[in-house]
Amino acid sequence: MSLASIQKHATDWVADCPLSTLALALIGAGWLGSYALSFARMLVDLARPGIPLSRFGAKKGAWAVVTGATAGIGRDFALQLAAAGFNVFLASRTTSKLEEIAQEIAAQYPSVQTKIHAIDFSSANADYAGLKQVLDSLDVGVLINNVGKSYDEPTFFQDLPEQDMTDIVEINVNATLKVTKIVVPGMISRKRGLILTVGSFASLIPSPLLAVYSGSKAFVSTWSQALGSELQGTGVEVELLNTYFVVSKLSKIRKSSWMIPTPKTYVRSVLSHIGVRGGAVGQPHISTPYHGHAPVQWVVDHLFSHRFWLNYNRKLHLDIRRRAIRKREREAAKAIKGE
Ligand SMILES: NC(=O)c1ccc[n+]([C@@H]2O[C@H](COP(=O)([O-])OP(=O)(O)OC[C@H]3O[C@@H](n4cnc5c(N)ncnc54)[C@H](OP(=O)(O)O)[C@@H]3O)[C@@H](O)[C@H]2O)c1
Ligand SMILES: *[C@@H]1O[C@H](CO)[C@@H](O)[C@H](O)[C@H]1NC(C)=O
Repeated sequence: MSLASIQKHATDWVADCPLSTLALALIGAGWLGSYALSFARMLVDLARPGIPLSRFGAKKGAWAVVTGATAGIGRDFALQLAAAGFNVFLASRTTSKLEEIAQEIAAQYPSVQTKIHAIDFSSANADYAGLKQVLDSLDVGVLINNVGKSYDEPTFFQDLPEQDMTDIVEINVNATLKVTKIVVPGMISRKRGLILTVGSFASLIPSPLLAVYSGSKAFVSTWSQALGSELQGTGVEVELLNTYFVVSKLSKIRKSSWMIPTPKTYVRSVLSHIGVRGGAVGQPHISTPYHGHAPVQWVVDHLFSHRFWLNYNRKLHLDIRRRAIRKREREAAKAIKGE
């Protein structure tokens, strides 16, 4: 078929079409177009370089404070921020683990200073005054609100031990607020700062059987976006990191894949994409920077209904719960045989 004949066919088709069909076709094209545009925007954004860490005082004597710094994602934030030239302040529960990572940093990056601070963020009488006293004397350029607690296994709310419920709120919500409140005034007066809070896809769609964890992450997500907007123009950048699965003790996932990075890969993508929205297309103060997580958020945000995803999460967690129970039963049976 020649071009001219295609053109003629098309004009004839349009001329023969009832107006309503044409309108529907246009709406459909517009709808598809906006989806394609949003997906393209995510890809272009992910290819963009992030704000350089020097903006926040790297190699200029500034400190990076990392909570939950001895394992998983927090440990890699500590190592990679040290590599980038920040002095690092490490806060976690266990002194021996803190000493270990401080020694590792000192050995690898001799010009970097480290301080360790043992604190149990689950304790209602954790010594925040003591923490404030130390942090007030430091030029804090970066805060990584990383410490977090989830369920041991997906559990119905009525069966969740009261202690777990309190610990999750105390660690995920209270500690995040209290530590941020300590460092924000200094950052504002120095006109530079970066506050990253590790959020979770568990707040993108509510997660049945992880209700308290899911709610705590929704809290920090909303709070962090509001804080980011409050601090606009002060030189303090605030970002909620929307995180899907990462290999760690908390996720109980041991094998990495394209969609489930190691903490090292995940943190590398975060630190090279500061200010980049990635999968959180058009959502100020949220970043979904890892290339395997970004399309997942795009799909959740754009396709199917809220009800669909809520049901999907419910089935997923019921299934994980069943498997966890079966595994416990197998191990209990093995233990009895072994006796
Ligand atoms: N892994 C994932 O798939 C995933 C997905 C989405 C979001 N996240 C979020 O990422 C963050 C880090 O998770 P992760 O997977 O890296 O966890 P992780 O491997 O279990 O590491 C947790 C860190 O926090 C410290 N910690 C735990 N309880 C503490 C307490 N009460 N007081 C002080 N420090 C404490 C631990 O050290 P000590 O035991 O020595 O205290 C450790 O350094 C959390 O906010 C989590 O919700 C993770
Ligand atoms: C968290 O902080 C609030 C407000 O300071 C306090 O009332 C509450 O007891 C703390 N702990 C929990 C688990 O809510």
